[in-house]
Amino acid sequence: MPFKHVVSINDFSNEEILRVFEIAEEMLPIAEGKKTSNSLSGKILGTLFFEPSTRTRLSFESAMNRLGGSVLGFSDPGGTSIVKGETLADTIRMAEAYSDVIVLRHPREGAARLASEFSRKPVINAGDGAGQHPTQTLLDLFTISREKGDIGDQHVVLVGDLKYGRTVHSLAYALSRFGAEITLVSPPQLQMPEEIYSFLSESSEVHQSESLEKAVEDADVLYVTRIQKERFPDPAEYLQVAGMYRVDLDLLNLGKDDIIVMHPLPRVEEIAPEVDLSPYARYFQQAFNGVPIRMALLNLVMGVID
Ligand code: CP
Repeated sequence: MPFKHVVSINDFSNEEILRVFEIAEEMLPIAEGKKTSNSLSGKILGTLFFEPSTRTRLSFESAMNRLGGSVLGFSDPGGTSIVKGETLADTIRMAEAYSDVIVLRHPREGAARLASEFSRKPVINAGDGAGQHPTQTLLDLFTISREKGDIGDQHVVLVGDLKYGRTVHSLAYALSRFGAEITLVSPPQLQMPEEIYSFLSESSEVHQSESLEKAVEDADVLYVTRIQKERFPDPAEYLQVAGMYRVDLDLLNLGKDDIIVMHPLPRVEEIAPEVDLSPYARYFQQAFNGVPIRMALLNLVMGVID
């Protein structure tokens, strides 16, 4: 792999993304605990989480442990010298000294890029504010590819908070590059940022809608996102849009028989629990797929597999 850090999905060519999928397929039995591996024995993963996480942090930890490596880090900067005023650059220098690869989640867009400039060890972006979440995008694409086949043949509806949702930012870039048809469904105040929309409209077939009912009729994949309450500068603005879109069986029955529902999780109210056991739901499988994908990435950035 010609890259060292994983900051943006645009750091990967389509061929490199497909190579990650090939390795992730090989990792699946290890991720499921059916086979063992010691490919990263003696290596240490540093996890620096300045924002809460369940899936990203735990799946990275699971991936590293399954590969025979070990993990150090924090899930709450409140217990670190950041509260004494230590800068991100110095925190990264310390993580670089104590570990072999760094996974960083930070509330500020651009933080992962900045961190990569201070670290000689690989830095993996685990979400930077409303910026990007490239490892989520890899597991999202892997899920689409395994469940539906060729990514470019799909019509993917992205619904919810397209303004602040970093998962849909990186996913939209990648879907477009693979040639998928994309429909964006959001309230007007939460539309996809202009810069990303321009890229999509130049590279693929893209539509915008406020009606989820209409959009779902022709969708192969319905990708639902949470309204990112924590990113709203004014709580009153959040209340105007909270609960606007809800996916339930009545809605899904308007769509194709083989439509699948994805969500990066956590969900709040946007997917009814009745969907969980339906043939449409893929979001828990999607979350599991984070383990083999992150195993593949760790092996690649550590140079164990090329
Ligand atoms: N999808 C995702 O990033 O989940 P977490 O915030 O729980 O890591």
